[in-house]
Amino acid sequence: MTTGAGHEKARQELQGQLHAMKDQAQRNKLGQFSTPIELAGEVIKSSLAWLPKRESVRFLEPGFGTGPFYSALLQSVPASRIERAAGYEIDSQYIEPNVRLWGDTGLRLHLGDFTQVEPPADEAHKYNLIVCNPPYVRHHHLSSRQKQQLQAAVSQRLGFEMNGLSGLYTYFMVLSQAWMTKGGVGAWLVPSEFMDVNYGRRVKEFLLSRVTLHRIHRFDPHEVQFDDALVSSAVVFFTNAMPPEEHHVEFSFGGTLGKPKMSTYIGLDRLGRVSKWTHLPRRMPESVQEACPGVLADLFSIKRGVATGCNSFFVLTPDQRQRHNLPSKFLQSILPSPRDLECTEILADDNGEPLISKRRYLLSCDLSEESIRREWPALWEYLERGKAEGVHQRYLCRHREPWYCQETRPPAAFLCTYMGRPTTKSETPFRFILNHSQATAANVYLMLYPKPQLAALLQEAPELALAVWKALSSVTAEHLIGCGRTYGGGLHKLEPRELAGISTDAILRVLPDEIRRKPHRQLPLFSP
Ligand SMILES: C[S@@+](CC[C@H](N)C(=O)[O-])C[C@H]1O[C@@H](n2cnc3c(N)ncnc32)[C@H](O)[C@@H]1O
Repeated sequence: MTTGAGHEKARQELQGQLHAMKDQAQRNKLGQFSTPIELAGEVIKSSLAWLPKRESVRFLEPGFGTGPFYSALLQSVPASRIERAAGYEIDSQYIEPNVRLWGDTGLRLHLGDFTQVEPPADEAHKYNLIVCNPPYVRHHHLSSRQKQQLQAAVSQRLGFEMNGLSGLYTYFMVLSQAWMTKGGVGAWLVPSEFMDVNYGRRVKEFLLSRVTLHRIHRFDPHEVQFDDALVSSAVVFFTNAMPPEEHHVEFSFGGTLGKPKMSTYIGLDRLGRVSKWTHLPRRMPESVQEACPGVLADLFSIKRGVATGCNSFFVLTPDQRQRHNLPSKFLQSILPSPRDLECTEILADDNGEPLISKRRYLLSCDLSEESIRREWPALWEYLERGKAEGVHQRYLCRHREPWYCQETRPPAAFLCTYMGRPTTKSETPFRFILNHSQATAANVYLMLYPKPQLAALLQEAPELALAVWKALSSVTAEHLIGCGRTYGGGLHKLEPRELAGISTDAILRVLPDEIRRKPHRQLPLFSP
């Protein structure tokens, strides 16, 4: 084998040419986003640390692209240490130029779908170093046939069941075990999403019980690693061996692999009990299921706001309402989107209308089309217009009867924005809102409906609402972020169930003693 820094220069040129041949949509389809060489170098350097010092390397890069990890390997170890190197790539356009580029290094590049190729049966043909940036293709871009094949492959080769909603990248990672020698090392540059979402549970189980998980480094979403794919990435390192007793996993965050901003070690046992991993290694909020004596679900029923199926049609400005002459009977005040809401306490006029500058109205009607045609011609005309634009064919509308009738969401006194990014104005991506008006809210908000005991208290002493709202607002951004999920570019989301798991400590402090002593959890759910 030969090596050479010249290869890297030529690789980057080739990467540029191949990139230019395709548009974003084509690249998305196969998850084609290349790893910056500096990062590839760091990943290779870290993964070599788990291989015995003098052991010769049998290297595999599935989803080869132009092979930045291979290139980094060639620059990191003497050629004599590389016993064998191979790549798999599904895109035929990549093969010929790669063969020209790497042919003289001894690389064996195979054209094929890595997830469907039969792994080597014997240890001698397996690999002791597999490094990969797998295609980030979400499950809904996989056909049901593909999903079945992927699940079947994992089940047959590893006797392990994956969640049907898993993205392609998780199959790459799990399936790689069948290609690894005993004691072989895997390093995976993947979106950090699997650490929080439901489908990721099985992947985490795999990492905890089937291999020895060494380290997960999560990059700071504010320093996204890829220019053209907004994913918050992590690198997962593991060895193909059962974890030793008392094994600890390193979780690091931010900075670089060599110099993370934070790092901590967590025992496997404890890790198995933590439901979300992306907030590690920050100080763990006394996690929801683990140790919460009281959680928001004890005091509130939390629901997402109305999902209209087409806000541009069902949510109207005062101007649009007037222009289409729509009857007030079918319009209800609704809050504008959080970015158009300039305050966090919404006052109301005598009619319960919100005193805000950007008023909005939600259109909803449960009459049949026939009665609307007869009795409400202006509304009829507006609905016909919507039909001409295909609004009635949209997913949510199609599943409603009639398609223009919204689900019921009474106004809530307390709301929380459902997603956001920390801004320079306010450090927290989530805002709690105190709503004195009769306006409902769309699904960009979470609506907190007090359960009976709290509702009764608030009725008796309405001034308590302000204290409750302030207590909610005092929950730190870190705590909220830790309970929710983080996406690329620093976007944070909080699902109703996640908000429901937040500790009530701050709120109980402002409530009378009696509510603290009552067993809230046994109260029936308050259904709005
Ligand atoms: C995220 S890119 C990474 C490329 C390269 N390893 C890097 O790090 O820059 C994923 C690569 O996997 C390839 N790919 C997608 N699906 C594949 C499959 N089923 N089998 C093999 N390769 C696949 C894509 O064409 C793309 O080149």
